[in-house]
Amino acid sequence: MNDWRVPGFTSTGSKRPDALFGTPARMTRASGCRVWDENGREHIDFVMALGAVALGYGHPDVNRAATAAIAAGVVGPLPPVAEEELAEALCDQIPWLERVRFLKTGAEAVAAAVRLARVATGRDEVLGCGYHGWLDWCQGATEGVPAPVRNLFAELPFNDVAAGREMIRARAPRLAAVVVEPVIVSEPTREWLQMLRVETERAGAILIFDEIKTAFRLAIGGAVARYHVTPAPDLVVLGKALANGFPLAAVGGRADLMNAASRTWISSTLATEGVALAAARATLDVFVRDDVCGHLHRVGTRLLHGLHEVQRAHAGIVTGVAGIAEMCFLHCATEDLSRAVAVQAAGRGLLFKRTAYNFVSLAHDESTVDRALAMLHEALRAS
Ligand SMILES: Cc1ncc(COP(=O)(O)O)c(C=O)c1O
Repeated sequence: MNDWRVPGFTSTGSKRPDALFGTPARMTRASGCRVWDENGREHIDFVMALGAVALGYGHPDVNRAATAAIAAGVVGPLPPVAEEELAEALCDQIPWLERVRFLKTGAEAVAAAVRLARVATGRDEVLGCGYHGWLDWCQGATEGVPAPVRNLFAELPFNDVAAGREMIRARAPRLAAVVVEPVIVSEPTREWLQMLRVETERAGAILIFDEIKTAFRLAIGGAVARYHVTPAPDLVVLGKALANGFPLAAVGGRADLMNAASRTWISSTLATEGVALAAARATLDVFVRDDVCGHLHRVGTRLLHGLHEVQRAHAGIVTGVAGIAEMCFLHCATEDLSRAVAVQAAGRGLLFKRTAYNFVSLAHDESTVDRALAMLHEALRAS
């Protein structure tokens, strides 16, 4: 037991010290790709708020838009003009979004997509692939989730065409939706993406892409754009980098499915507060203007190549490189070694996540990546 006022140390589970570096455990501020810890020490960061920031911390355009929204009162009695404007801008950039609803967290937005699928199909069961947040509908063995709710959900294996097809067909009369993260450690195969589209259609189920990590990263339109998924999924969920760290998520897709939002109840008091909406609008503008996804791919590719060199140089410790250019990490021979490398790197001023994705941002340039790789070599020599 500890006596922290926040049980579990922090409200964001993936930021607890044992998931990261031990120390530094807490921070005071961040700018670009730099973070200052509670002792005033500067670090190069690749955690990037768990992928919620792709332009760098405190991007001036986003801050300016957010500051103006604060000056304009943040919230009010009526829905803001900015809500419809942002929806319009997103639909322009991501054409398979015909309608959009905003929420605050990714978990809420995926839950909304699943609710819409249940409304559309009149069915209850859902297959999921990847992480979709902490809410009841997608938990397997989590304590506190009622068994009847758990029994409506099962895990679909990533990139396994035969198993996926069989699972969808077996549940066809009861299946409301298949929800997938389109990239899990490796890229999806064309066959798997095709199987999902064909089999959900055949089963009369809704195909939902959870693009919370991949949109505004692989492309503005995420994996659907990167891998040319056609026909597009029925619904898509956006979050994380969408507002560059301001709290905003969205569910969007086919108009007929989205319009069912009025037949059920999906609503949150602060879903329409103006600061995150303004931040998202500014973020989208920077993505388009600065070809942010092109930058992420270039710099991320340099990082990924460097990680392969790291593996070659320290083959006894590093057993693999996982992920893609935009989101990647190292596999180590043991859990203890993995922790030791992360701790050694943090001690040298590099925050590099183990066993979960590191993210490059617009604020990471080639020299930052090279410096980080040199620090990783040092950390490995000391591990
Ligand atoms: C793919 C995916 N879906 C959903 C979520 C849940 O988002 P949030 O933590 O904002 O509720 C996450 C968060 O990591 C995610 O990566």
